[in-house]
Amino acid sequence: MIYARIAGTGSFLPEKVVTNKDLEKLIDTTDEWIQERTGIKRRHIVADDETTSSIGLEAAKRAMSDAGVGPKDIDLIVVGTATPDKIFPSTACIIQRQLGVKNSPAFDVHAACSGFVYGLDLANRYIQTGGAKTVLVIGAETLSRITNWDDRSTAVLFGDGAGCVVLQSSDEPGILATHIHADGQYEELLHVPNGISVGFDQTRAGRSYIEMNGNAVFRRAVAAFDNIARETIADLDGDLGDIDWFVPHQANMRIIKAAAKKLGMPMERVIATVDEHANTSGASIPLALDLAVRDGRIKRGDTLMFAAFGAGFTWGSAMVKY
Ligand code: UT7
Repeated sequence: MIYARIAGTGSFLPEKVVTNKDLEKLIDTTDEWIQERTGIKRRHIVADDETTSSIGLEAAKRAMSDAGVGPKDIDLIVVGTATPDKIFPSTACIIQRQLGVKNSPAFDVHAACSGFVYGLDLANRYIQTGGAKTVLVIGAETLSRITNWDDRSTAVLFGDGAGCVVLQSSDEPGILATHIHADGQYEELLHVPNGISVGFDQTRAGRSYIEMNGNAVFRRAVAAFDNIARETIADLDGDLGDIDWFVPHQANMRIIKAAAKKLGMPMERVIATVDEHANTSGASIPLALDLAVRDGRIKRGDTLMFAAFGAGFTWGSAMVKY
């Protein structure tokens, strides 16, 4: 049996930090409101010359160094992103060139905040079927470029960042189980209304931003985490004690707490880094994972549970022996 194992992790946060206090000067909000409703304290924002590919590249280099692999070892690159550099080529192709990787397939997966878990599911299947041996799964986002900084209901929520795991084939388990889902019924509850085939503005006069019905999304997110909890409990034959760390999508502390409660996970076993970087969509799980690996909480041999939810709606989970 071939397994896919996480051989290394890496992440990158842009240098520029915008605190809640900074936002108080721009919009009608308060640090207190943001912390109470979301748990967020600050977010990192890309500089003008930084892009999704440039921050994804940094995360990838760090993960490759952690795994001890070089460009010649990489035989697939998957980037989960909702904020690609360009319409085409894919951000994965741009990162491939910058890494000096030759000939590997490289493509983006667009599943909004679930992009990393979707990418992991896919990469795991490639490795298990012998289609690849060493895969970069990157989550990278520059949400600041599609955030309306005048809209207090969304501006306080999002940030930029990137995370990456190197997945490698192994005789030892690795990825134990993955589940991914989508329900396209609720498109307008969380979307960017203009894209390419809809509302593309060649004059560049019209900007398009994230639009969200926060309350409705909150309820759907909690329902999705309930679904994830049920699948996980079934996978584990009811023994949730096997999970050492729950690493959820970092959208909002209240959603993270609700999700942990559904799983019966005490908060001491939950990795919550949303206070430091806000919601970075597809980057949030690999970012939280890497931060917890670096600070020594997550150790080799631990069993991890990733759970994501995002626009689409999409959701999914992965159980991993780290
Ligand atoms: O990856 C998935 C992405 N999406 C999410 O994770 C978001 C899910 N939703 C949420 O996290 C929450 O719904 C929010 C944090 C967005 C909002 O929290 P809420 O408890 O649902 O607040 P609300 O939308 O019901 O708004 C309560 C009040 C409103 O004022 P009134 O109508 O009661 O007078 C809002 O206008 O808070 C007001 N408000 C704000 N006040 C200060 C909304 N945004 C702000 C703000 N600062 N930034």
